[in-house]
Amino acid sequence: MLFKILVVLHTLGATVWVGGHLVLAVTVLPKALQNRDPDLIHQFEEHFENFGLTSLLVQVITGLGLTWIYFPYFHHFLDFDSYLSTYIGIKLLLLLGTIALAIHARFFIIPNLTKETLNSLAYHIIGVTTLAVLFVILGAGIRLGGFF
Ligand code: HEM
Repeated sequence: MLFKILVVLHTLGATVWVGGHLVLAVTVLPKALQNRDPDLIHQFEEHFENFGLTSLLVQVITGLGLTWIYFPYFHHFLDFDSYLSTYIGIKLLLLLGTIALAIHARFFIIPNLTKETLNSLAYHIIGVTTLAVLFVILGAGIRLGGFF
């Protein structure tokens, strides 16, 4: 039963994290770049930031929970000797990349966001959104028994 609850919570968290970033990257960012108006992104971040970070925390907790069920006591889960350990290992690398980009944006770009620095934030948004979509592809890959 725990496994099923973790999969449902993990999928729900994914809809928030990935859905929110796709809305930001596909609908808000193009308009902000076109109008050179960083406020459009500020307004989105004001509403999404806490909810988004909570969903990322849910992903980490449920993801590690699912990993524990597949690899009790995390034994050999980073051996990269099966699609399962490889996909989970890559997911952890995606997580590190996501956290690094998020911290850099939050503490170095967003506080000094102007029309001039908007492009550097755009690269971050596209980067985090691409990592988010890769999380889903790898997650579905685990569910489907691997792609290759
Ligand atoms: C933002 C971060 C993440 C997103 C968007 C995400 C997304 C997904 C999705 C959509 C699935 C398929 C759900 C299903 O099984 O049908 C999945 C499965 C899975 N994810 Fe993640 N994930 C994230 C982070 C993580 C992390 C950090 C880990 C491990 C430490 C992880 C481990 C897993 C595992 C083991 C499965 C397979 C569950 C199963 O058997 O179905 N995920 N993920």
